[in-house]
Amino acid sequence: MADFDPVTKAVVPAAGLGTRFLPATKATPKEMLPIVDKPAIQYVVEEAVSAGLLDVLMVTGRSKRSIEDHFDVAYELEDALRAKGDAERLSQVQLPVDLATMHYVRQGEPKGLGHAVLCAKQHVGHEPFACLLGDDIIDARDPLLKRMIEVRATYGGSVIALMEVPREQVSLYGAAAIVPTGEDDVVRITDLVEKPPANEAPSNWAIIGRYVIDPAVFEVLENTPPGRGGEIQLTDALRTLASRSPDEGGPVHGVLFRGRRYDTGNKLDYLRTVVQFAANRPDLAPEFIPWLREFLDQAGS
Ligand code: UTP
Repeated sequence: MADFDPVTKAVVPAAGLGTRFLPATKATPKEMLPIVDKPAIQYVVEEAVSAGLLDVLMVTGRSKRSIEDHFDVAYELEDALRAKGDAERLSQVQLPVDLATMHYVRQGEPKGLGHAVLCAKQHVGHEPFACLLGDDIIDARDPLLKRMIEVRATYGGSVIALMEVPREQVSLYGAAAIVPTGEDDVVRITDLVEKPPANEAPSNWAIIGRYVIDPAVFEVLENTPPGRGGEIQLTDALRTLASRSPDEGGPVHGVLFRGRRYDTGNKLDYLRTVVQFAANRPDLAPEFIPWLREFLDQAGS
């Protein structure tokens, strides 16, 4: 097996405008919206940490303060909880602070996901890195990122995560043209298209918000013109890398993910996510599920 550089850093882009969630996202990043009682972005950082990545760079934009504050010490709050002897809540408040070494960079103008990733260039340097979208949650029981890091260790280059979606939904995602490898859950990527019309999609395998990226992406992004929606698309840069040889930063592989993923970036999926998380919580489910059943019975009658 070739000896590829290990992945140690995570980049979390959280600088998008979140227009699908206005007005909630006017002064709050959508990544800070709570899934029950924890902001979506904390689940994402916890996922990076459980894949062994303790250096996390957030790419932030407007209203970044709430994100920084969430991962920082809150002296007044902690003192108040200590004075009350509320050890349980105190530990909840302290947990995000000790998770990882957090770094921040500002995107300035939200010129697209590719541009957000380019903002990480100086921090990341010449190492491969993981990129986790701050509004996409992968169930902690389905360790996708760990698998992607293993795949990078085997094949080098970059690794994307793919999930099969119904054909009529492909146009909401990037879609991949794939060829099999010797491994069941790993494919080689031959082409990528951002948000294709259903009849032009190369497959039903959609790109979801987890990536392991070769540092060659930075040079490609610097030369990637704005694509769909006038934004610099990460998908376009990965498409370029997919056609390159290993000594130029290629190839790109895909991990076929068949686990549980929750989207929190639009209203309907957000509601689904909150209900599923609440129904899985031992402290809430015993009251929440019977209430939900009764509510639905009444709504249906
Ligand atoms: P989205 O396209 O889902 O985010 O980007 P958005 O642009 O905020 O969403 P809408 O369509 O306006 O509602 C996926 C991820 O990339 C980040 C977002 O914060 C999100 O986590 N992103 C996107 C950036 O960091 N910068 C950008 O310029 C665009």
